[in-house]
Amino acid sequence: MMKRTLLALLLFFSFIGAVNAQPALTNSEKVKWFTDARFGMFIHWGLYSAAEGIWEGERLRNGNNYAEWIRYRNRIPEAEYVQLAKRFNWDKINPEQWVLQAKKAGMKYILITAKHHDGIAIWNSKVSDNNLSKLSSTNRDVLKELAAACKKHGMKLGFYYSHWLDWEHPDGWDHNQEITGRITDEQYNKYWQGKVLPQLRELLTNYGDVAMIWFDMWVDYKTTIVKKEQLDQVIKLIHELQPNCLINSRLGLPANTPGIDFETMGDNQLGAAYTNHPWETSGTIANSWGYNALENEYKSTSQLLQSLIGNVSLNGGFTLNIGPRADGAIPYEDQTRLNDMGVWLSKNGESVYGCTGLQLRPDQHDWGRITTKKQGEKQIVYLQVYNWPLDRILRLTGILSKPEKAELITDAGKVALNFTKTGPYTHIQLPDVAGDHFVSVIALQYAQSVELDEKAVAESTFGGLALTGNNASEKTATYKKVPFDGLRPAHLIIDKEGSLSWQVYVPAAGSYNVDISYHNNSKTATPIKITAGDQDLSQSLKPTGKVVVEPHDSYTDEFVNERTGTFNFPKEGFYKITLKADSKEHEELLLNRIWLSKKL
Ligand code: GLC
Repeated sequence: MMKRTLLALLLFFSFIGAVNAQPALTNSEKVKWFTDARFGMFIHWGLYSAAEGIWEGERLRNGNNYAEWIRYRNRIPEAEYVQLAKRFNWDKINPEQWVLQAKKAGMKYILITAKHHDGIAIWNSKVSDNNLSKLSSTNRDVLKELAAACKKHGMKLGFYYSHWLDWEHPDGWDHNQEITGRITDEQYNKYWQGKVLPQLRELLTNYGDVAMIWFDMWVDYKTTIVKKEQLDQVIKLIHELQPNCLINSRLGLPANTPGIDFETMGDNQLGAAYTNHPWETSGTIANSWGYNALENEYKSTSQLLQSLIGNVSLNGGFTLNIGPRADGAIPYEDQTRLNDMGVWLSKNGESVYGCTGLQLRPDQHDWGRITTKKQGEKQIVYLQVYNWPLDRILRLTGILSKPEKAELITDAGKVALNFTKTGPYTHIQLPDVAGDHFVSVIALQYAQSVELDEKAVAESTFGGLALTGNNASEKTATYKKVPFDGLRPAHLIIDKEGSLSWQVYVPAAGSYNVDISYHNNSKTATPIKITAGDQDLSQSLKPTGKVVVEPHDSYTDEFVNERTGTFNFPKEGFYKITLKADSKEHEELLLNRIWLSKKL
């Protein structure tokens, strides 16, 4: 009897082990590979790839160029759309090439559109005959081959699955139903139970470890046909079959909902602020995700590298898309950018992988961005220099600690640099030649975690301090912040009496000029007072007018520059600078900046 129970128990546990082969991880352990990876490849490849953004001689009916939407946009009948399968060239299609390209680019994961909105699975799904293998009469399963290649080359693999939209299934959702009469909840649930869940089960059962399922619904589920319990069924299924598989927020739930592992931003929407939870941006090299033959405006390698670096500096990642053709070929323009990024990452990758950012203002410096990581007790701070300063001094503001060393990463290895440290400023002496053609990286090593000063106004390239609405540390009234609108500078609207203060560090005793750049909408002059300790400067800011926008016939607000006076700082150190503006109610003073610079 004992023996039998033991046997039954053994069988039971080996069964559990078989179903649940992955060791259970805590949420932060589970997502760590992803937050370390920072850079991955998105692949949009499906039936639409063979249309190439053109249908019967007509270009895609939408300015966003999203060629994977062609079936919906150009109102293509199902029977004609599936004929695209005939254009696939299976002699040429080789998913291992995609993996090799991702590796060469320094990417750490691949995410492929297993089923996009057109509803056509790209694997030989048993759930629906509307799949690429069946339609193009091949016995190949592109996902099997991709999974094998990923395993061979140590690449994580995830699947994009369009759960909300499905233009192929009679009970699936497409946006046009908002005007042509909606399908019922019962019908939609038929689609959910009959296609979504069974296909996800296939994906999570037949392809080994699935690193993530990337869903795609960019609205709150409550505003559309999807029900919370349907989303919960998806989460439950994934957790049951592959507990370590990550789920993104475009499932239709906010990033902080249990079950959601990371946030996906809007398409090509880069980070704007440091965010603690894991997040990423999916981005394109041109505009379309699926291959589009009519596109020719590509982002530059610098732009793409800056997107990646910028996101890492705000604790996020970047999933960069390629749209291979129906023969599997990766467009040349995509290849060149990925290869260049790969070369950059093979040299500077330590400043991206496993890195995050400092909690300073995101656009603190006008020369680039900052990434960082801990190395045992030490902290390494990477200065990502987009613009090599003409005077060969790189000005860093906001770190109070003194680095042990500063090194420039070059093709020939690391080169030590001299630096000086004053208050929150570190000045690094640069050589004539930049460390890299795209982005040069300087590694600062600190003995311990760095001490930050988040308030100090950053020095600008060439020195000088711009005191703006963005870097003010105190505001006593509510002001309206207006970003750069293409013509006028970013500014702050002061429409009643109030004050603004900045924390500045004066690096040396002496006289400093105080200039103000503003636009005054009022009919009369606006009195202002700028103070620093016991010194103050008063000025009356005259009403300003308009300036012609080239070529003619159009006007915009003119911002003028005026000298307010001079401050004499008796010694180096922190000073609080305050601006008091006496605007009358409803009369607007638009402040661009106060410019503080050492008198020469
Ligand atoms: C959008 C588009 C889609 C693309 C995706 C990638 O949701 O509908 O075509 O796959 O963004 O981020």
